[in-house]
Amino acid sequence: MSDMAPMPNPGPAPDPPVEPTVSGATSGEPRAPSGFVTQPGPADLHAWHVLRPLLDGRPYLPFSPGAMRAGGLVYVCNLIVHRAPRQVVECGAGVSTVVLARLLAERGTGRLTALEHDPGWAERVEELIAREELAHVARVVLAPLDPSGWYDASGVARLPEAVDLLVVDGPPADRAEIALARHPALATLEPRLAADALVILDDVGRAGEQEVLARWEREHLWDFERLEDEAIAVGTRRPGRLRTASRSSQVP
Ligand SMILES: C[S@@+](CC[C@H](N)C(=O)[O-])C[C@H]1O[C@@H](n2cnc3c(N)ncnc32)[C@H](O)[C@@H]1O
Repeated sequence: MSDMAPMPNPGPAPDPPVEPTVSGATSGEPRAPSGFVTQPGPADLHAWHVLRPLLDGRPYLPFSPGAMRAGGLVYVCNLIVHRAPRQVVECGAGVSTVVLARLLAERGTGRLTALEHDPGWAERVEELIAREELAHVARVVLAPLDPSGWYDASGVARLPEAVDLLVVDGPPADRAEIALARHPALATLEPRLAADALVILDDVGRAGEQEVLARWEREHLWDFERLEDEAIAVGTRRPGRLRTASRSSQVP
């Protein structure tokens, strides 16, 4: 993993650095970022079985500790089945991008756009997508990180204008100095979120993501349910919405 620029405090008052809570393991190359929550429980074992139709008989995917927990991935897959989102955006590309693309292709509806800051990793994931001829449902948008540690505006501008499901699993936030790297996600992308959009934040076992959730609930009209087994939080708008994306202006 390449180093990233330090994050300035996005909030009004200075906050102490946030320490990641769990150290990650590594498993082969390329090395996943350290500091991910890597303590799967029984729920993950069940989730791997649930994912089998999207894994069995398909090309191998290089899962690593940097990937979403199986339980979190199942949760997102279930949302795709139950809600049939037209536009899914994932911050932080990876094997999850390919699994979700497989499901979208099988369902025959919905597109996925993954924002990725690391050019080499973006290329890897694009290769995995192309290998399975999934480019009609999924694409990777390369977006360098700006000085705040969030994806730069040129990358964000290439996202769909009306997003139904947002999965925030990037940029990396696994060290104290970048622990709040995902905080700008809601402010930056909220104008693109459809009225009934859902927002998923991954890695909520970490102190940084817990602080991000607290700030989001303070600063935005959104509530987040924390799902411990899946290590994700699921956000919905409170009544009395802020700006919402217009479906009529959506890029096809
Ligand atoms: C939490 S990971 C995103 C993982 C992805 N959503 C998934 O579940 O497969 C955040 C970032 O770490 C980097 N990353 C993830 N896996 C990696 C790997 N195996 N090697 C190098 N970088 C990786 C990428 O830059 C990615 O955007």
